[in-house]
Amino acid sequence: MDSDEMKSKAAQKAMDYVQNGMKLGLGTGSTAAKFVDLVGNAVAGGLDVLCVPTSVATRDQAAALSIPLTTLEQTPHLDVTVDGADELDEHLRLVKGGGGALLREKIVATSSDKMVVIADDSKLVTVLGQFPLPIEVVQFGLKSSLMAIEGMATRVGCVGEIKQRMQGDGTPYITDNGNFIIDALFGQIKKPEALSEALMQVPGVVENGLFLGIADVAIIAGQDGITTLEIDGA
Ligand code: A5P
Repeated sequence: MDSDEMKSKAAQKAMDYVQNGMKLGLGTGSTAAKFVDLVGNAVAGGLDVLCVPTSVATRDQAAALSIPLTTLEQTPHLDVTVDGADELDEHLRLVKGGGGALLREKIVATSSDKMVVIADDSKLVTVLGQFPLPIEVVQFGLKSSLMAIEGMATRVGCVGEIKQRMQGDGTPYITDNGNFIIDALFGQIKKPEALSEALMQVPGVVENGLFLGIADVAIIAGQDGITTLEIDGA
C-alpha cells in the first residue's frame, strides 16, 4: 500500500465519527481532501451535514462537491473536525501548517467538540520537530519578528534554520488571512508547550503550528492496518 492509499484508509475510518445532522470542520491538505471527497459522496447519498472549511482550497473543493457550507460566524460550535497533520506524537501533539492553513485549522478545531486527525504512519514521530514548524506572522515588521522568534526559541532550547516561506516563483507565500509564514526547522522540539508559549509572546506572531491538547483521536494508517490513538475520555 502506498502513502496515498494509507491516507484514503484513514479518511474512510474517520467517516465512523460522522453522523447525520452533525456540524463538521473540514481540514486542509492531501489527507483531509480525501475525507472531503468521502463527505461529498455521502452527501450525494443523502447525508445531512453542515460544514466549515479550514481554507479557501477546502472551501472550493467542498463547494464543487455540493457539500452544504457555513461559517463560524453563523455556526460557531461544531461537533467534529477531521484534519491531517504534518507530524504527530503518541500524546497527540501535532505540527500542522505545511499547507499554510494552520490559523484557520486551529480556530476550527478548537471550535469543535472533537478533533480527529487522519494520517499515514510516516507522520507519527517520537519527538516533534523534523518537519519545519510553520509560524504565521503579520507582514509588518517581518525581520523583527524573525529575530524575536529566533531569540524566544533559543531560550527554550530550540535552535535551527528559521526562514520565510517562499513560493516557486520567488514571491512570499501569503496565507488565506493575508499573512506570511515562517518555517522553523528545529530538528527536535523537546518541550512543545514551552516553545508554543514562547513563540506566542512575539507580537508579530499570529499563531504557530503546534496543536497541543487539541486533538482527541488520531487514525493512523500503515501497512499492517489502522491504529487509533485516543486521548482518555475522547
Ligand atoms: C495544512 O495547513 C496542514 O496543516 C495539513 O493538514 C498538513 O500539512 C497535512 O497535509 P497532508 O495531508 O497533505 O500531508
